[in-house]
Amino acid sequence: MNAFGRFALILVFGLPAVATGKVGIAADPAAGRSLARSACAYCHVVTDDQGFAPVLRPQGPDFAIIAANPKNTAKKLRTFLLTTHKNVRDSTGMPNPILKNDQIDNIVSFILGERKKP
Ligand code: HEC
Repeated sequence: MNAFGRFALILVFGLPAVATGKVGIAADPAAGRSLARSACAYCHVVTDDQGFAPVLRPQGPDFAIIAANPKNTAKKLRTFLLTTHKNVRDSTGMPNPILKNDQIDNIVSFILGERKKP
């Protein structure tokens, strides 16, 4: 491949990686909030005003608790949301929500945006 080809490849694959590698640049926390309220509220208290208690089991921790946990970095949350925790041996884990990358970015930016400033 010539230099131009390499440059084009970097442009096509490198730039989006740079843009999304750091949550916050392209992420939309308002979209994340709205998606989480429709996709996650059956098992989590996503926001206090969601209007109903989670109905599905297993129930997960409130998003306020997830946000308050300093161990929950953007990287850790992304990895969690990309993996399956529920299987035959562990039926108490969270199922893989199978979200798209931008949906994960939006939800992670929403969760971390809810973290109370010290
Ligand atoms: C079927 C129920 C269910 C649904 C739907 C669900 N979760 Fe969960 N979630 C859980 C359970 C149970 C846990 C705790 C057990 C575990 O870690 O797997 C959990 C844990 C988590 C954690 C890790 C918390 C921590 O501090 O370790 C995150 C982050 C999370 N959920 C985000 C989400 C998001 C975002 C959605 C929607 C896209 C979602 N969950 C949908 C049940 C669910």
